[in-house]
Amino acid sequence: MKLLRVELGERSYSIVVGTNLLHRVGEWLEGMELANRVVVITHPRLKKLYGDLVASGLSDLGRAPAVIEVPEGEEAKSLEQASRLYDELLTLKVDRHTSLLALGGGVIGDLVGFVAATVLRGVPYIQVPTTLLAQVDSSVGGKTAVNHPLGKNLIGAFYQPILVVADLATLTTLPPEEYLAGLAEVIKYGVIADEAFLGFLEEQAGPVRSLDPGALEHVVLTSCAIKASVVGKDEREEGLRSILNFGHTIAHAVEAVDAYQNVKHGLAVAMGMACAARLSEALGLCGEAEADRLVRCLETYGLPTRLPPMDPEALWEAMTRDKKVRDEKVRLVLMEAVGRVGLYDDVPREAVLDALVASQVA
Ligand code: NAD
Ligand code: GLY
Repeated sequence: MKLLRVELGERSYSIVVGTNLLHRVGEWLEGMELANRVVVITHPRLKKLYGDLVASGLSDLGRAPAVIEVPEGEEAKSLEQASRLYDELLTLKVDRHTSLLALGGGVIGDLVGFVAATVLRGVPYIQVPTTLLAQVDSSVGGKTAVNHPLGKNLIGAFYQPILVVADLATLTTLPPEEYLAGLAEVIKYGVIADEAFLGFLEEQAGPVRSLDPGALEHVVLTSCAIKASVVGKDEREEGLRSILNFGHTIAHAVEAVDAYQNVKHGLAVAMGMACAARLSEALGLCGEAEADRLVRCLETYGLPTRLPPMDPEALWEAMTRDKKVRDEKVRLVLMEAVGRVGLYDDVPREAVLDALVASQVA
């Protein structure tokens, strides 16, 4: 078991990474004045798999939790579900010292974080992520949100958890396609910040794909360390934090043009990163060998590197509606080397359109 800190002054918190930690969550709450009562919020399937472990561990330490269930799926990240949670929490007479515990993937984490940020003007919350994506990305950094009919994650707040406990054992029950989707974000960290980590992912693809515990611990710890370092320097995404969006502007456009029907987010991120690498190469920001290296690494893991056939103008239009657009300029994170990216808001539209066309399946 290893411990990392997200350094944010009085909002600092620990990330615990290891195996078989679910019954121990209460241990890291000891001494935290804020965490008297705990309410666990999870999906029915995860309650069945892991709810008892979390609840019994907390009960043993005198913090028997209430448990609330939320349906599975992205649709649960809604104001309706948030409102239902407010009803249940207020009926339970939660106070500002009651902690909410999000047991699940990014959907539960984002929803519970948003509810924690807003109920009683803010109660503490704990992230217990059970998908790879949530362990390496969404549980860390305090972005919380629900969706709006006009777009994903449009209603939300920056609100940090008080603790993150990533139990690697939970990943053994994760459907393989969900694991694969998380690997796209893992590869992202190598490209944006750590060439040696990309080297590890290239060399250790077998152990990483087969969930070897040692390899997995290195993957989750290194990813969290990179994210924690970026968030520690730019909590509210005024600059540096944007590098975490490498590949995401194109990915969000693909998802929007697809009407969120067929392309899973993690797979869209893989396509978006490959396209961003090719655009970087075309603009002379990185060499062909560096773009090739990212594309090959994605392929090694069986991640897609080509966009589905889509109207490039529609993709561009979707990119101009991205949350990160500033002064009507599309801002793109582009690759300067393996392990280094930069933020560009002056990329000619034609160059982007060319890269989108060149990156589509033949
Ligand atoms: P998810 O939360 O929907 O989980 C995927 C599926 O796996 C669900 O059906 C879930 O019930 C199931 N599941 C979860 N853990 C399991 C386990 N251990 N065993 C078996 N089944 C399990 O999906 P996700 O990919 O984790 O999260 C996606 C969400 O995360 C999106 O809404 C996205 O917007 C958000 N996100 C947020 C941030 C952030 O910084 N806040 C970053 C990235 C993504
Ligand atoms: N997932 C990108 C971020 O947290 O900033």
